[in-house]
Amino acid sequence: MNEENFSVSEKLVSASYVRQGVQARRGHEQLIRTLLEQGKCPEEGWSESTIELFLNELAVMDSNNFLGNCGVGEREGRVASDLVARRHYRLIHGIGRSGDIAAVQPKAAGSSLLNKITNSVVLDVLRFSGVRSVSSCFVVPMATGMSLTLCFLTLRHRRPSARYILWPRIDQKSCFKSMVTAGFEPVVIENVLEGDELRTDLQAVEKKIEELGAENILCVHSTTSCFAPRVPDRLEELAVMCAKYSIPHIVNNAYGVQSSKCMHLIQQGARVGRIDAFVQSLDKNFMVPVGGAIIAGFDEDFIKEISKMYPGRASASPSLDVLITLLSLGARGYKKLLAERKELYTHLAQELKTLADRHGERLLNTPHNPISLAMSLDGLQANCDKAVTQLGSMLFTRQVSGARVVPLGAEQTVSGHTFRGFMSHSDAYPCPYLNAASAIGITKKDVELSIKRLDKCLKGLKKDTKGEKSESESSPSGPDDQTVP
Ligand SMILES: Cc1ncc(COP(=O)(O)O)c(C=O)c1O
Repeated sequence: MNEENFSVSEKLVSASYVRQGVQARRGHEQLIRTLLEQGKCPEEGWSESTIELFLNELAVMDSNNFLGNCGVGEREGRVASDLVARRHYRLIHGIGRSGDIAAVQPKAAGSSLLNKITNSVVLDVLRFSGVRSVSSCFVVPMATGMSLTLCFLTLRHRRPSARYILWPRIDQKSCFKSMVTAGFEPVVIENVLEGDELRTDLQAVEKKIEELGAENILCVHSTTSCFAPRVPDRLEELAVMCAKYSIPHIVNNAYGVQSSKCMHLIQQGARVGRIDAFVQSLDKNFMVPVGGAIIAGFDEDFIKEISKMYPGRASASPSLDVLITLLSLGARGYKKLLAERKELYTHLAQELKTLADRHGERLLNTPHNPISLAMSLDGLQANCDKAVTQLGSMLFTRQVSGARVVPLGAEQTVSGHTFRGFMSHSDAYPCPYLNAASAIGITKKDVELSIKRLDKCLKGLKKDTKGEKSESESSPSGPDDQTVP
């Protein structure tokens, strides 16, 4: 309500009560004003009522909610289901205009404001999470793979004759397909084995640049967050190489915002060399539904060029979800989640090590990977060839999600390219293994229950290979399962 309405209210309710109500409302409004002025993630999380007040204020600024509106266009923000309208806080017009996802829509001042504020808040989060010098970013309603494709398509205009993308191998299909879908030829650079870790082969990258010619290379496509025993690429060295040969550099930072190490690598790479854009998933870093990513970089013009590359308007849902999330967590809440994740990584590593020792296996030594861990399955494989894949299905039926079992020698063809040793980021990794990750939102209970079930499965498989009936197969829900919500 505005001043006028408040004073009219005083005819109905005692003036002192109304004044108290005015003051209360001012508290919410002050928070909204600070957000609009500073464009930063508030330090303390907002209450749901402040968030809803803000979103409702935005919604009434859009033409689909104008009381006297009559529309005769082909897109008037009409929604048949009230449930759908409420699900979107009546922000129906989406973001951008045909031809530019960052443009302001005359019909939708509220949605346009939402878009600008979200991009600004997300930029603040990228900065305080470690990439201090990032200058520009935008939320795009596509997941990581497609967002990488958009970056490659934008670079095509700058380097029309380039055909190749140099890509230190990471066995994740969307990463590979993001290049193929954009119409480029990925040049796979195999990783080198250093101890247990798979690391970027810098010499092989440089050799390829010289062999193919820098002008024929669209970019280097590197990766930070990845499954162990692969570790984040040597970003600084790659960035320096890209600067030396004037080759663009796109970084896949899929779930790297949650790790200060991944963010530091990007910051350092940009400081000493060249990084044109880095891409991160919204769901993997901010605990929102799948469907959005952030494209960020150090040169505002290039990031603007990418946003202009997006054809047409876009869904506002990913922006809305991440804005609501960050407003409710506040910077403090988000940093707390990051700190808890880091602590639980150490806990998970200790628990996996103890488990590995107990079963004659080894926690692979991958100190450069800050999120994902791997435990060897050598002993299991030695007992029985099929036991490794069996472990995968046992974990699945026991509702341990996210634990990946990587057998030896799997072959897979992705968009015409055959990968030997698929899933292991290497043609011939020395042992089969199991992955587990400490990702944002993980709880101590997740760690403890999954270790307990993993232990049970391993024991069961050992018995199986000795010809006894598997405990895990005979009783798929053991006592610990009773604690599953
Ligand atoms: C390193 C990496 N890059 C990219 C992706 C693909 O992400 P999206 O599904 O958001 O396209 C994943 C998904 O797991 C990933 O692990």
